[in-house]
Amino acid sequence: MRILSGIQPSGKLHIGNYFGMMRPCIEMQEQGEALIFIASYHALTSEPNPDELRERIQNVALDFLACGLDPQRALLFRQTDVPEVTELTWILSCITPMGLLERCVSYKDKVAQGLSPNHGLFAYPVLQAADILIYKSNVVPVGRDQKQHLEVTRDIALRFNNRFGDVLVVPEASIREDVAVVPGVDGRKMSKSYGNTIEIFGREKPLRKSVMRMVTDSTPMEDPKDPDTCNVFALYRLFASEAEIADLRARYLAGGMGYGHAKQELFEKFWEYFRPMREKRAELEGNLDYVEQVLQESAAKARALARTTVDEVLQVVGLK
Ligand code: TRP
Repeated sequence: MRILSGIQPSGKLHIGNYFGMMRPCIEMQEQGEALIFIASYHALTSEPNPDELRERIQNVALDFLACGLDPQRALLFRQTDVPEVTELTWILSCITPMGLLERCVSYKDKVAQGLSPNHGLFAYPVLQAADILIYKSNVVPVGRDQKQHLEVTRDIALRFNNRFGDVLVVPEASIREDVAVVPGVDGRKMSKSYGNTIEIFGREKPLRKSVMRMVTDSTPMEDPKDPDTCNVFALYRLFASEAEIADLRARYLAGGMGYGHAKQELFEKFWEYFRPMREKRAELEGNLDYVEQVLQESAAKARALARTTVDEVLQVVGLK
């Protein structure tokens, strides 16, 4: 089984990224051949500053290795180091109906937010389809927001196979329903574009501050509280054991505990959870040559797979 996923280097990774995509990918490295890449070509669609882009790409690599991606089992590479993916993108573009892309909500959302879109942003799902199809991936672990892009990928693969024969593998999305939506500090879905994230590797003081400022309802301290509508509790669940979750639930329901208290406990759990990863990351920061070596060796292996698929595709479409 081949498992693939990509992540955009769009800024500091947060716990929404971690539970939605990073941890599922890292867990799956035990179950099959895992390929994880940093979506560096996709990042250009938001027109980033070049120096910032370089730094973000490196940070994603450090974050994944720190969080447990094992380069003995899984590949970790930059999308840009497999340029064949742009070659496949063009070929897929020529069988992708405009209407399929016009319906994509993530594109429509960005336009609605007032962004003046470039062509790359419109074509983003085709590049994503190429990412997935080029490695003949079976399973793609993603957050729920990527569901539609996976449907587009499947649609493109089916169209291609219908027309040219069974060359491409039609992939399955793997969306973990339990953790697919991680609430942010304001209660909306945690997302960089909402500015409501909790970074995985931020500094202690500002992180503690943002947890303590989380939005809750105004139930008075003495009154019972509903754990199931509380975003502090929703985040606590991600870090605590079953027994600890049951204990905090009981204290919510009993009343007499303020939200400030729950927030403090959440922060402690969060901070402890990432402690070993923080230590690993600090170690890796002192060994950037090793990180670069992992990226390059992984890319060489991924590229060999990619070339084989593109050659098959060129053959069946009549370009070879
Ligand atoms: N669009 C994905 C995101 O923003 C990143 C991505 C690019 C991706 N190519 C992919 C994810 C291929 C899975 C498979 O999160």
